[in-house]
Amino acid sequence: MILCLNLNAAIDKTILLNTFELDQIHRSEKVVALAGGKGCNVARALKTLGKSPVVSGWVGGFAGKFIEDELNKEGIATDFVKTGQESRTCTSILDQNNQTLTEIYEKGEPVSAEKIEELEAHFRETVEDYQAITLSGSLPPGVPSDIYARLIKIAHEAGIPTYLDSSKNALRDGIAAKPFLVKPNETEISILLDEKPGTSVRELATAIQAIASRHTTTLALSLGERGALISDGQRVLEAQAPQVNAISAVGSGDSMLAGLLSAFSERLPLEEAIKSGVAAGTANTLTLGAGQFDIDDFEKIRQEVILKTLT
Ligand SMILES: Nc1ncnc2c1ncn2[C@@H]1O[C@H](COP(=O)(O)OP(=O)(O)OP(=O)(O)O)[C@@H](O)[C@H]1O
Ligand SMILES: [Mg+2]
Repeated sequence: MILCLNLNAAIDKTILLNTFELDQIHRSEKVVALAGGKGCNVARALKTLGKSPVVSGWVGGFAGKFIEDELNKEGIATDFVKTGQESRTCTSILDQNNQTLTEIYEKGEPVSAEKIEELEAHFRETVEDYQAITLSGSLPPGVPSDIYARLIKIAHEAGIPTYLDSSKNALRDGIAAKPFLVKPNETEISILLDEKPGTSVRELATAIQAIASRHTTTLALSLGERGALISDGQRVLEAQAPQVNAISAVGSGDSMLAGLLSAFSERLPLEEAIKSGVAAGTANTLTLGAGQFDIDDFEKIRQEVILKTLT
């Protein structure tokens, strides 16, 4: 089993309208509501890759029950800490005629110190049940930015590898606890550097090797359609995906994390891990749902990924 932490859970609701206009009443054409959050996307992708994910974090109220039920309906196990406060709903309004997307993200209720402690204690008790842990996404209000660092430390002590995909202070604090792997994108990596790196592959390769070496971690830097770089602090590899007709890249980074984890959990080397990561991210662009892809697309793309050794 693999634990996918999804601390900032939400219902992701997409409302399809013919035309969206300010100050008007609208009647929806269609409404789709799903369990949202990056940890949920990672879990979906892991399931497609033949793994058994369990999603955890905080949920509460009717929305919390909905998030759990939706994941369970998808065949994904859950182990949430219940807060007694209503979970968030994030609403996206899709205007079909003008092809616009308007997004409203609820901030959510602050998590109490008591519930933070409860999650940490539960994590400590159950961590050894898992083969690996993923820690993805932003944090709800009230949660200190070192929460990922604290959980990574607990996993470390239990000998369980951790995979971190976050941003800003949560990423900066988290990497200091030496997770097995970190997966920022080009924007997110800035917080780990004193100066903004150049955009060339050479400059990025030098930057990720330095970070990976300094923090004793493996750093996979995703570069959207340009593919990805990976370094274990010594070597740096570049992986380029084949050209595809991308429909939606939402959740590609989360799929990539699942691809990397899947390969490393089978004790495959850096080369195979980055190929799997890039293939899962790219396969995800061919399907609408975040973290959803066709395993045949994944296999086909994986064989077409071009790998270069940079260092
Ligand atoms: N337009 C695209 N065409 C082909 N492959 C893509 C495209 N976008 C993303 N990918 C693949 O998915 C991987 C991860 O994507 P990206 O760098 O966009 O992650 P991200 O910014 O973390 O995304 P998110 O956090 O929204 O899931 C890339 O390394 C690449 O392999
Ligand atoms: Mg991402």
